[in-house]
Amino acid sequence: MAAIESVLNEARVFEPSAEQMARASIGGMDAYRALVDEAARDYEGFWSRLAKQHLSWHKPFTRGLDESNAPFYTWFADGQLNASYNCLDRHVEAGLGERTAIIFERDDGEVQRVSYRELLARVCRLANALRARGVRKGDRVVIYMPMSVEGVVAMQACARIGATHSVVFGGFSSKSLNERLIDAQAVAVITADEQVRGGKRLPLKSIVDEALGMGGTEAVAQVIVYQRTGGDVTWQAGRDVWLHDVVADQADTAEPEWVDAEHPLFILYTSGSTGKPKGVQHSTAGYLLWAELTMRWTFDLRPESDVFWCTADIGWITGHTYICYGPTAAGGTQVMFEGVPTYPNAGRFWEMIQRHQVTVFYTAPTAIRSLIKAADADEAIHPRRYDLSSLRILGTVGEPINPEAWIWYHEQVGGGRCPVVDTFWQTETGGHMITPLPGATPLVPGSCTLPLPGIMAAVVDETGQDVPNGQGGILVVKRPWPAMLRTVWGNPERYKSGYFPAELGGNLYLAGDGAVRNDKTGYFTIMGRIDDVLNVSGHRMGTMEIESALVAHELVAEAAVVGRPDETTGEAIVAFVVLKRSRPEGAEAKQIADQLRAWVGKEIGPIAKPRDIRFGDNLPKTRSGKIMRRLLRGLAKGEQVTQDTSTLENPAILDQLGEAI
Ligand code: WTA
Repeated sequence: MAAIESVLNEARVFEPSAEQMARASIGGMDAYRALVDEAARDYEGFWSRLAKQHLSWHKPFTRGLDESNAPFYTWFADGQLNASYNCLDRHVEAGLGERTAIIFERDDGEVQRVSYRELLARVCRLANALRARGVRKGDRVVIYMPMSVEGVVAMQACARIGATHSVVFGGFSSKSLNERLIDAQAVAVITADEQVRGGKRLPLKSIVDEALGMGGTEAVAQVIVYQRTGGDVTWQAGRDVWLHDVVADQADTAEPEWVDAEHPLFILYTSGSTGKPKGVQHSTAGYLLWAELTMRWTFDLRPESDVFWCTADIGWITGHTYICYGPTAAGGTQVMFEGVPTYPNAGRFWEMIQRHQVTVFYTAPTAIRSLIKAADADEAIHPRRYDLSSLRILGTVGEPINPEAWIWYHEQVGGGRCPVVDTFWQTETGGHMITPLPGATPLVPGSCTLPLPGIMAAVVDETGQDVPNGQGGILVVKRPWPAMLRTVWGNPERYKSGYFPAELGGNLYLAGDGAVRNDKTGYFTIMGRIDDVLNVSGHRMGTMEIESALVAHELVAEAAVVGRPDETTGEAIVAFVVLKRSRPEGAEAKQIADQLRAWVGKEIGPIAKPRDIRFGDNLPKTRSGKIMRRLLRGLAKGEQVTQDTSTLENPAILDQLGEAI
């Protein structure tokens, strides 16, 4: 709470410079307000104008928004287009084929440059190979790839033939991969032999083998394997093929599949408040419009001169929108990085910005916080040791940024000259929602400031009524926007009840975050999730997902998982566990805790491993049997219990659960 108060009392304001205002695509608050007013006057017309301007249509649309089957909204539904055509062909046709699309830097520092012409050819070859091997429009293809040009090629090749991709982050376990393959009913997997991060080789293909071995995935007819390291892999003849073999004799042109605007471009699984991750389904046109538009609005991208770098992984939404689709749809040049920020040392980001002359840099607050620590500890890798003068805009995403980290980023990385855009958005929103515009919005550290033009964000109470500025409440969006998710894959009911709950009137999009608006400026500050979703290093994790994994272990009778504020990772996972046997102590407790951590790593993935596991004889519950989570959150932080605990059968467990192992 102290952190939020310090944000709300933040008084420092950073105005854009006259030069920034003059150069920006949205220069100054008057230009911003003019767009806000245009959207308010004619909402549908506003988005239709932008969709015509920013996308290339095979068949123009005649209708904008259709609300007749709310909340299953559609946008531009009678138009047809292709996402990969918009990201690649149109730039080559405009004579920009030789422009560098991707500057790919491997973990070991080797650099590969890929032009738009070459990227298009590689996408076409794989698209042809997929078609030749029977993958059809509407089929689902799971991509389990390292950060690589091939990863982007795989996504774009799917888009080219109208197959719906579902990228699974390379850090997820075989069990998680298996669940996603089943839920998406995937027909093919594209993966790599291994991935390389921080000098270490980590398996991918063997995890795919395990996932397919678990069953339920009979629809997967083929596994296409990109050879990254040449490491040993086991091979199932008839199913497994090398990527280099299947593209070897394919033509480097491929007719795009023209799809309807609403055709599902991809499904991306994300954590919610129930045990199972949900497949967030995105459209083609509305999503792509957003990816392109926000590159221009939020990053003020000038494709001819900027070098953009988003450090996210393609396995998350940020990598979808701001690596695979946004920078390419805008025709820009981007850096893509295989490795980790701390290898070979924690100056890697700064060194790469200097070497590649990066102008727009986009990363997560967790990365900034850990690099602050590293720079404090070792002057040799402090950002001031590098020439970062190429930078002009900095961005953050994924979690709240505390004012101290914001100021450090602004001063030490941006030299005090670069606006910091703190972008609030979600897997479900497709792209930025509430964010400063670099040439317009006066910045306040710790605030994502104002919604993009046309985004009707608001703060409401539990009944859906607006709350006054200065008073906290529930963050909602009042009108459907083009890039919003269209449904939860295979579960429209969950989409409806989860995102448009009846309690709020059934027509407000529920983001799942708490927020407060400043009473003078109307600026938004995000106060964190109001559901059972944790945010660990900017990665979304459901507490119930982790609890289900824990109780699946043979020793565990019951488990409750909560988040504890953490200086570096934002939140840390704390698990309270009751075993089927007696409560362990000392060395044995430590050994079982390690065993459970490893288990969760296997069940979900290393990112879900609890930082801290505590054992009790039972869990604190209310008379009606509900776990007292607020109390557990207090215990996780090491706070004294002040809550009424008279209903507890056994108050002694509070001492047990307060004890870190
Ligand atoms: C959180 C990531 C504060 C928020 C793009 C949201 C943020 C969740 C910010 C979505 C921000 C994202 N300030 N919190 N600028 N950006 N969040 O789906 O809780 O991985 O609901 O999308 O991250 O996480 P997701």
